[in-house]
Amino acid sequence: MYDLLRNAMFLLSPETSHELGLDALGAMNRLHMSGLLAAKNVDEPKEFLGMNLKNAVGIAAGLDKNGDYIDALDALGFGFVEVGTVTPLAQAGNDKPRLFRLPEKQAIINRMGFNNKGIDHLVAQVKKRKSNGIVGINIGKNKNTPAEEAVNDYLICLEKAYEVADYITVNLSSPNTPGLRDLQFGEPLNRLLGQLKEKQTQLNNQTGLYRPILVKVAPDMEPSDIEQVGASFVKYGIDGAITTNTTIKRDAVQGLKHCDEMGGLSGEILLEDSTTALRLFKEVVGDNLPIIGVGGITKGEDAALKINNGADVVQVYSGFIYKGPKLISDCVEAIKRNKL
Ligand SMILES: Cc1cc2nc3c(=O)[nH]c(=O)nc-3n(C[C@H](O)[C@H](O)[C@H](O)COP(=O)(O)O)c2cc1C
Repeated sequence: MYDLLRNAMFLLSPETSHELGLDALGAMNRLHMSGLLAAKNVDEPKEFLGMNLKNAVGIAAGLDKNGDYIDALDALGFGFVEVGTVTPLAQAGNDKPRLFRLPEKQAIINRMGFNNKGIDHLVAQVKKRKSNGIVGINIGKNKNTPAEEAVNDYLICLEKAYEVADYITVNLSSPNTPGLRDLQFGEPLNRLLGQLKEKQTQLNNQTGLYRPILVKVAPDMEPSDIEQVGASFVKYGIDGAITTNTTIKRDAVQGLKHCDEMGGLSGEILLEDSTTALRLFKEVVGDNLPIIGVGGITKGEDAALKINNGADVVQVYSGFIYKGPKLISDCVEAIKRNKL
């Protein structure tokens, strides 16, 4: 059934079909019809950073930027849902077109630019949800905030999201916000991590709640960068890492329509680079830092590969667009088989 819907949707522009697809999922959920599409046999509870996930396969950030479809995504069978990236103030994102499909490689290029309705809207949506699954909130900076004030944007979002989120992801790795990836390295990174940790401690003392902070990194890092970034995460007591975001490389899609569009590339062709970054990261952080493995998962074995290279749990995005909810069951099954 998903294949039929996808084929119809793919006749529309990627962004229109993205919006219509999510609205359709939301409507099906309200009509208690998600079961028609939902993944089967995905009840495989997994403990991760003190949270009880329904299974080890989550939906990655960027699909539900505003938290408008949490119940619908939960009903499809995802083990956890990450919403965002959200910024302090609502913003329109980049000009359209900004989303491109490369179906020959089950890939997507996007330069959405953190289009979102702002943190207040997202927090209200998370509070309103009916499902009881784990929800992570992925936070970023507004485009107009100067780089030297970026830390404030993250602190504002952390404070507002803290009580309603099960975990917080700090997104330093989108290629679509100028200067964002510079925060991933050296002194800017250490300053940001130090202040986030301080705020987390303060909020923990105020609320009695401990919300893990994970940082999401890019796949386009040299091994020496990974060493330095991983060491900083451990030094500042960051709770976990998400490897990885989209890539700015284009080698694997040369010659295909849209291959030269600016933005982040995701999907099947990201698997190798993203998993290499995961493995190197794991070598640096060892057992000090749990990891969510994401990037290029389009079949069950890819999820098992991530686990074998150091991920504790996984997320999917592009593969889900191409394959639908069956990808969740395939990944859950492959991870289970891998353990036996
Ligand atoms: C259209 C689109 C929008 C995205 N938006 C975000 C975002 O807002 N924040 C974020 O951290 N990652 C975002 N991502 C990256 C995904 O969460 C994921 O890290 C990346 O796509 C690699 O996984 P995949 O190969 O399974 O798609 C986006 C990806 C796509 C395709």
